[in-house]
Amino acid sequence: MRVLKIGARKSLLKSYDPLNQPNLYTINNISAADTLSIRQQVLRPNLAVDQCHFDGDLNEATFHLGALVDGTLIGIATMMRDASPELAAISSDQFRLRGMAVLPGHRDQGIGRAILDNCIEEVRQRDCNLFWCNARETAARFYTAAGFSKTSETTFDIPTAGPHFVMYKQL
Ligand SMILES: CC(C)(COP(=O)(O)OP(=O)(O)OC[C@H]1O[C@@H](n2cnc3c(N)ncnc32)[C@H](O)[C@@H]1OP(=O)(O)O)[C@@H](O)C(=O)NCCC(=O)NCCS
Repeated sequence: MRVLKIGARKSLLKSYDPLNQPNLYTINNISAADTLSIRQQVLRPNLAVDQCHFDGDLNEATFHLGALVDGTLIGIATMMRDASPELAAISSDQFRLRGMAVLPGHRDQGIGRAILDNCIEEVRQRDCNLFWCNARETAARFYTAAGFSKTSETTFDIPTAGPHFVMYKQL
């Protein structure tokens, strides 16, 4: 695993102690296989771990980022080259975010945002300027806070995961 960034968890910043390592997280390049357990626990609890692969997980352009605390993976995201027809008028060169998840005990500490920001930075470095995802209605404000827009105020349904918006960010 390659470490991309080291950060301090938001709610612990007031008591930040550089010698107290548990306050720290790292953002790392991880493998598709590394993502499966958290995908299953957070996003697909009714499926088995081996049913949590995404088409394109192993494509050359695909990359996976994870957040680690104390050497334990606690958050994940996957980026793949996949174009949304709804966004074709803006650009055909698009990266899609999939499988964004943080384990329940680690939320609201800035970890999800740190993973997302690193995904955006990695996409920018690949000279791509359009980034999108199917955002769960329950997570839409997480993406809005990171500067994403909705293509429509109308949701569409994904049978296993409920209502979603298509959301995007131009870089
Ligand atoms: C969505 C998710 C990844 C966010 O991770 P997180 O580590 O808790 O998010 P952060 O602490 O980095 O939050 C960043 C910002 O988004 C906001 N936010 C995070 N989750 C939110 C939610 N579900 N609804 C509304 N706002 C949310 C935070 O308040 C914060 O705003 P601020 O910067 O103004 O304080 C996490 O809640 C999760 O795994 N949810 C379940 C799976 C899921 O829905 N994934 C998205 C699939 S599209």
